[in-house]
Amino acid sequence: MSTPRFSSTVSSLSAQRLVGKVALVTGGATGIGECIVRLLYKHGAKVCIVDVQDNLGQLVCQSLGGDPNTCFFHCDVTKEDDVRSAVDFTVNKFGTLDIMVNNAGIAGSPCPDIRNVELSDFEKIFDINVKGVFIGMKHAARIMIPQSKGSIISICSVSSALGGIGPHAYTGSKHAVSGLNKSVAAELGKYGIRVNCVSPYAVATGLALAHLPEDERTEEALVGFRDFVGRHANLQGVELTVDDVANAVLFLASDEARYISGTNLMVDGGFTSINNSLQSFG
Ligand SMILES: NC(=O)c1ccc[n+]([C@@H]2O[C@H](COP(=O)([O-])OP(=O)(O)OC[C@H]3O[C@@H](n4cnc5c(N)ncnc54)[C@H](O)[C@@H]3O)[C@@H](O)[C@H]2O)c1
Repeated sequence: MSTPRFSSTVSSLSAQRLVGKVALVTGGATGIGECIVRLLYKHGAKVCIVDVQDNLGQLVCQSLGGDPNTCFFHCDVTKEDDVRSAVDFTVNKFGTLDIMVNNAGIAGSPCPDIRNVELSDFEKIFDINVKGVFIGMKHAARIMIPQSKGSIISICSVSSALGGIGPHAYTGSKHAVSGLNKSVAAELGKYGIRVNCVSPYAVATGLALAHLPEDERTEEALVGFRDFVGRHANLQGVELTVDDVANAVLFLASDEARYISGTNLMVDGGFTSINNSLQSFG
């Protein structure tokens, strides 16, 4: 009996796809980052969780059994010494670094009038979202260049392609990440290192309500957020979840994406490809 043509692809997609790989995920204590950590771990990777929220990061680590396959390292991605140490810690513990996920990011507070934007807020967003990603790329490259392999994935946003969705600094920062992604992919291609972004539409995480005072970050507010983004989504009948974002990261980290580099993979149900304001389709 002949073997079905796609059997090897199907079986590799269902099996563990990252066995023997080592990953570092920044902002891995909650939200999208936590989901990425869990999925990479499920697929056989050893994972170092990096975050400024030590308790949450430790909890994620413990829930996955901790040593010898996961660890937590306190690291503020805006501080080069922290990132250098986190990368070195990961390499010392697990032997190498194959997958770097630059996920840590903040949205900042909405400010509908540019005249009222505080430059300190603007700088904070660029520090975490842009400088933090660049430092992550730099120190991942330090380990990956001598090995002539590796995958660097940065979590960007639909705000890397469109204005008007988030605060100015957030939109500017995500455009900058998309630019850095292309630039670093251009340099690291000669070493066989792939460099990509994943850009989600809105997902109901802590980031969605972070600008609200703590007592207003209620379940009701989250339901309101999900209704709002659902109504404005292009793809109807499906709600974007953290799992969808993590699956895109898994794909880019795995050998299935071995010839993909310099791309910004939109996980947005077509949101950034369409403009329905003329209502051509009703
Ligand atoms: N949630 C969304 O709708 C959405 C949409 C598009 C893109 N994104 C991007 O996805 C990424 C993750 O967002 P999320 O929704 O999971 O947010 P989140 O707030 O739930 O999680 C962000 C994590 O990053 C950590 N972090 C923040 N500053 C840090 C720093 N200086 N150093 C280390 N860790 C730090 C936080 O402690 C937290 O654990 C961000 O880059 C965000 O811009 C989110």
